[in-house]
Amino acid sequence: ASYDMGGHDTFMHKEISEQPDAVDRVLRGRIDDRFSTVHLGGLNLDPREARTIRRIKILGCGTSYHAGLIGAGLIESMARIPADAEPASEFRYRNPVVDPDTLYIAVSQSGETYDVLAAVQELKRKGARVLGVVNVVGSAIAREADGGVYVHAGPEVCVVSTKCFTNTVTAFALLALHLGRIRDLSVTDGKRIIEGLRRLPAQIEEILKGEDEIKRLAEEYAGAQSMMFIGRVRGYPVALEASLKLKEISYIHAEAYPASELKHGPLALIEPALPTVAIVPDDDLLEKNRAALEEIKARSGRILAVAHQVQEKADHTLVVPKNEDELDPILMGIPLQLFAYHTALAMGRDIDKPRNLAKSVTVE
Ligand code: AGP
Repeated sequence: ASYDMGGHDTFMHKEISEQPDAVDRVLRGRIDDRFSTVHLGGLNLDPREARTIRRIKILGCGTSYHAGLIGAGLIESMARIPADAEPASEFRYRNPVVDPDTLYIAVSQSGETYDVLAAVQELKRKGARVLGVVNVVGSAIAREADGGVYVHAGPEVCVVSTKCFTNTVTAFALLALHLGRIRDLSVTDGKRIIEGLRRLPAQIEEILKGEDEIKRLAEEYAGAQSMMFIGRVRGYPVALEASLKLKEISYIHAEAYPASELKHGPLALIEPALPTVAIVPDDDLLEKNRAALEEIKARSGRILAVAHQVQEKADHTLVVPKNEDELDPILMGIPLQLFAYHTALAMGRDIDKPRNLAKSVTVE
């Protein structure tokens, strides 16, 4: 693509810094303050149908799958519809049970990922209702879907996704709020979420201002052979996505685990040479997450926490602004985009074009 880098050294850096505007764009014109809900023009789902949905299954690949995991959590908490996400590439090969009461949602930045498109086509053949959460307008997946939500992140050139991930998750928050208000989410909760959504652009701006500190930390961790990422419930997909970002551009081996699973195996890996990045939001799981930090510290593991307040057990904390509990995952991954970026930069990697990867995988 012949887009302009606008004074940045890489598209990745440009796209990370565009996030306040991008999030503003996905919200624009959709919020309805009178009824504390959002309007999604292309959804093509009337309220009566929306009330009959028994389950939601979200399908995507890579970063879009991770956005779908957060999306499933948002839908469950706001709309109280059982929801989960699965890699589209797995779903299409396991002869899944296609259920008429399930709403399927395909997630894709490009709208051209073959595994996702093939899953959508298979679902449609079986008579399922499929919505798209897609960035590229008029793309194959957008055309195949019965309706959906455009993510409006703008063109994303860097192979690794940053602003599109953030906008996709925000689009899921809109969808969750919309479904919630059709079902049992109260006016008060609707208002609370809307106010939270409106705070996002300025809060992202604030996180981006911390870049110098993130860069300094990234340079410190850049020598690691491997890194562990942990989070719990809402924080786990944030950990998954942050570890993918680090792998893709720095080539440092990284793995993500639910913090609750540490004691069931991966704790054996913890030693000073394996740093852990921990997602520690100030919510009802704070004490549980703190206990995991203690377990790591007891094995002399180094810890970098992303949290709403400084964590005593961590060696370093990147403090992010607090939003509503449901919306915290949108913000907590952003410092880790910059962390992956500066780690890769310190290691001299080709950030916009990582080895072995293509922007969209349009073949089987
Ligand atoms: C993102 O950093 C990756 N390049 C990759 O995981 C990507 O998200 C995946 O291939 C899906 O692409 P899509 O969103 O265009 O469908």
